[in-house]
Amino acid sequence: MSGRGFPALRANEYRDAWCGQVLADRVDFELRLAGWIHRRRDHGGLVFVDLRDRTGLVQLVFDPDESGAAFELSHQLRAEDVISVAGRVVRRAPETVNPELPTGEFELRVDEAERLGGAATPPFEIEAYSGEVGEEMRLRYRYLDLRRERMREAIELRHGVAKAIRDFLGGEGFLEIETPMLSRSTPEGARDFLVPSRREPGSFYALPQSPQLFKQLLMVAGFERYFQIVRCFRDEDQRADRQPDFTQLDLEMSFVGVEDVLDLNERLLAAVFEAVGGPALELPLPRLPYDETLTRYGTDRPDLRFGLELVELTDLVAETEFKVFRRTIEGGGVVKGLNAGAREVPRSVLDGLIERAQELGAKGLVWAFREGEGWRSPTAKFLSAEELSALNERLGAEEGALLLVVADRAEVANSVLAQLRLELGERFGLVDPGAEAFCWITEWPMFGWNEDERRWDPHHHPFTAPAEGFDPERPGEARALAYDLVWNGQELGGGSIRISDPELQQRVLETIGIGAEEARDRFGFLLEALRYGAPPHGGIAYGLDRWVQRLLHADSIRDTIAFPKAASGADPLTGAPAPVGEAQLRELGLALRSPGR
Ligand code: AMO
Ligand code: AMP
Repeated sequence: MSGRGFPALRANEYRDAWCGQVLADRVDFELRLAGWIHRRRDHGGLVFVDLRDRTGLVQLVFDPDESGAAFELSHQLRAEDVISVAGRVVRRAPETVNPELPTGEFELRVDEAERLGGAATPPFEIEAYSGEVGEEMRLRYRYLDLRRERMREAIELRHGVAKAIRDFLGGEGFLEIETPMLSRSTPEGARDFLVPSRREPGSFYALPQSPQLFKQLLMVAGFERYFQIVRCFRDEDQRADRQPDFTQLDLEMSFVGVEDVLDLNERLLAAVFEAVGGPALELPLPRLPYDETLTRYGTDRPDLRFGLELVELTDLVAETEFKVFRRTIEGGGVVKGLNAGAREVPRSVLDGLIERAQELGAKGLVWAFREGEGWRSPTAKFLSAEELSALNERLGAEEGALLLVVADRAEVANSVLAQLRLELGERFGLVDPGAEAFCWITEWPMFGWNEDERRWDPHHHPFTAPAEGFDPERPGEARALAYDLVWNGQELGGGSIRISDPELQQRVLETIGIGAEEARDRFGFLLEALRYGAPPHGGIAYGLDRWVQRLLHADSIRDTIAFPKAASGADPLTGAPAPVGEAQLRELGLALRSPGR
């Protein structure tokens, strides 16, 4: 970052230019600058200071012959002190030019300086961004962590993404409309954060898991094109790409079908990436129907930057003598495998793969190397020559290819192989670090069977429209007009065409076990609104934090958020969540139970 792109400052008592703007056009001019002391070097006679503001660094020189009282002050200055200085910009002698800095050919010879704010010794170095500082520490002193260049760039990029979104959607006729934070539960599948009501003790607001119902109401209201960059709240277990409060780009459109929504969103992505220097997109983006992606990658968020696809083997070994396979298949399970290519892999690694598969939930893992028509594998003896040759052929196994096979329930075989695929892709260096792969997952099932609760759950949310031919008697077969966008194996966003017919909405709610009465109680306002002239509508929401994370190639979305929660869900900076006093509880009509009761 340099000050070149920054607007000229209006001079005031503190400064008249940004540090990054100390360039050729300023040479021989008097200038006032302000910022933080990035580094201070005492060279006996002269004192050098790198002054930092948001736009970058510039070198200050304090000289005993020229700087007067400022020279005295320069001896008291410490890293991260805030100062304002005035002086003359000069060109540095050629041997002292710093090619690393945009301002590296120039320096300010100080003749006046004032300390505006002193700094205690920071708990970690601001200058060098290192992974060595623990995250707890970084979050505890986030305002210092944010001074680091990498964090500043992340926050600037985030701003750029939000601005590009607003520019593009504004140009497409979208209105940015705010929806309430204090509201009722929206069923996105996570636990709600609740806010007790003081005026109605015993009643609670729920913080929105998404603006889903409000954006649908805005379509009923006739706004036709809505978006919002909005905070959402979900009380779920944290992961590297989850936060309890996170930001969605949420949008909704009227009089549209799936194609319209995907088209607009592809153009949106391309425009934003172009604005902020993201990957160049080739439109239209690839689409994978849900069933196909599960068959080929074992997951609904496939990383398409490399092959290593899963291969269905069930039919080839349905009659086999090998009990592990046959019993699994007789029990309704599947046999699937993958071909990791010709590899030299020591036994210890193979044992490690078996252990890993078991850790991931598989009962076991067959490994084999293709050898002639057969296998080199402890399992080879259980399979006939015909079976081995058919397996080799289906897996496309070349001589020496490492083959991995799992027999299990389809969900388990898929999830285990999907994870092994990722880990092998990494181990064998199959992911080109420069590659970016996007795809839409389409044709989702409407419902998934929840074995624990013994009921059908919506795959997306209960307002998603089913594809034509929906039969409430056969929920397992129903398809949804839903789509997810996947970027390098991460779910970036998801949406659907919505139900705009109140009768159909009622039937879908019934299918997931929400009867008429409960529906009236929880979503009565939506069902009612749908009776007053609801246009066909649909939309999508993206995790904005995840967009920025991907653009930055950051490991965690926390690196894209100014003040994130730690992995524990707590905020080391403010100490939230924190106990509240008895008086506050009383006012809210609340009493605490002892934990576990
Ligand atoms: P969904 O629940 O798929 O859809 O959420 C949309 C996107 O939000 C992001 N996301 C998160 N990001 C960070 N931390 C979290 N805890 C978190 N949870 C979700 C993901 C996800 O793809 N109302 C629907 C959208 C619609 O149908 O239009 C919804 O919220 O990137
Ligand atoms: P066993 O008969 O249990 O000793 O298993 C024989 C071989 O099959 C061992 O190499 C196991 O790791 C492997 N195996 C066991 N269960 C499965 C399974 N569900 N899928 C794939 N391989 C398995």
